[in-house]
Amino acid sequence: MPTATKSKTSVAVLKQFIGGKWVDGSTTKEIVSTNPADSREVIATLRGADRADATRAIEAAHKAFPAWRDTPAPVRGRILAKAAQLLRARKEELARLMTREEGKIYPEALGEMEKGITLIEWFAGEGLRLGGVTMPSELPKNILYTTRHPRGVASIITPWNFPFAIPAWKIAPALVSGCTVVFKPASLVPAMAVEFVKILAEAGIPDGVINLVLGSGSAMGDVLVEDPRVKVVSFTGSNSVGRRVHTICGARGIPVTCEMGGKNPAVIWGDADLELALGGVMKGAFGSTGQRCTATSRLVLDERIADKFLKMLLAEIAKIKLGDGLDKTVGMGPAVDESQMKTDLEYIEIGKKEGAKLLCGGKRLTDGPFAHGYFVEPTVFDRVAPKSRLWQEEVFGPVLAVARAKSFDEALELANDCAFGLTCAVYTQDLTLAMRFSERIEAGMVHVNSPTIGGEAQVPFGGVKGSGVGEREMSKEGLHFYTELKTIFLDYTGERRQSNIY
Ligand code: UN1
Repeated sequence: MPTATKSKTSVAVLKQFIGGKWVDGSTTKEIVSTNPADSREVIATLRGADRADATRAIEAAHKAFPAWRDTPAPVRGRILAKAAQLLRARKEELARLMTREEGKIYPEALGEMEKGITLIEWFAGEGLRLGGVTMPSELPKNILYTTRHPRGVASIITPWNFPFAIPAWKIAPALVSGCTVVFKPASLVPAMAVEFVKILAEAGIPDGVINLVLGSGSAMGDVLVEDPRVKVVSFTGSNSVGRRVHTICGARGIPVTCEMGGKNPAVIWGDADLELALGGVMKGAFGSTGQRCTATSRLVLDERIADKFLKMLLAEIAKIKLGDGLDKTVGMGPAVDESQMKTDLEYIEIGKKEGAKLLCGGKRLTDGPFAHGYFVEPTVFDRVAPKSRLWQEEVFGPVLAVARAKSFDEALELANDCAFGLTCAVYTQDLTLAMRFSERIEAGMVHVNSPTIGGEAQVPFGGVKGSGVGEREMSKEGLHFYTELKTIFLDYTGERRQSNIY
């Protein structure tokens, strides 16, 4: 809770969006969203939604479904294209709000706006291509073809670390497919969610087609996944919640995609362009304060270049200035809140206890401008043991674990020795090694000579092992997740005869 309110900008009082109306949540406790760089600055307050509010939102989405389903897909896409236009016109202002609410530095927030808008544009265009396939039949004068149909009400549950892009890449394909949506963002970033939903409504998304429930998941219970009117669920967040969501949806027999943690390795081999690798590791490990599931959190170094590379890395880290992300000279923002900061510090203690060698960082900053923020120094541990918690568990902060390998096979083994498998990177100029790595690494995404982070609208995004279950996101796969396939057997012989198909 803030100690005192700074009145730099006005405090927004946020509401729920249910059936086209902005209404107060029913819980009595006020939720306060503050700036993690200076928790005295209040961004917004609200009364959170409870089970009854969430149920009302599902009801509204259920009621709005038939008309939205029957709206032609190109028309639905055009509304999304309009939303993308409105977002583009306001992207700088929204990026500033994102920096104040989530803490990431302004250039990263602007990059996220750009990425989310591109995703919406891509899915908007898919409105013109949302079809099935035609196939020949065994029979004369028969056509086989498939069509796609929206599943119904989609519950979309998103984390705080990408307050715009993740909602965009889930909501846009749901809407263009003809699903109606109940959107539940993380309670740390309600102001961004409200702005996004306002723009969707302004672009012409009809009442009830997009609904927003703000507040803590515990106050809403499991309504968003348990209500029988919810027909598809998309979740990004922690492993523990994801597994629960998956179990409930599995028991109900409805499709679900859960994008969960990561502990992504970057392997830097001896022949690599070390300057290129350095840039990639800096971006991957400390960009967004390490708070992305695609962050580079494990570094496997070829023993032959390990000392040299770590020297280069430490020199680069020393240049990072921490602070408020709206300050142009700042290179890394705070942890999102006190709880995440504590987790970062806990893992730093775990690393020390496990005997890893702390090369830099390791502390919280509390003096002067840092007094009211959640700042943790960029931290690197060398000689991290493969079975240690620091090598295995997701921190979700600016903490990089390093191990060394004597052979490429050992590097691969170290990289694969983990319960997660979202993304990875290999830095080498040897095509054979790059291909071997791409084939043998257990991950949903592989970057050759580029950082572990990022994704593009047109290609699948997602992981294997503990990183995810269900369909990939983005791309055609991400779009088709929201539709049911129907196969049609059309006989146009006009003759009275029995099929010989058994
Ligand atoms: C990215 O790396 O640009 O929660 C996206 C996350 C991921 C998104 C990462 N779902 O960090």
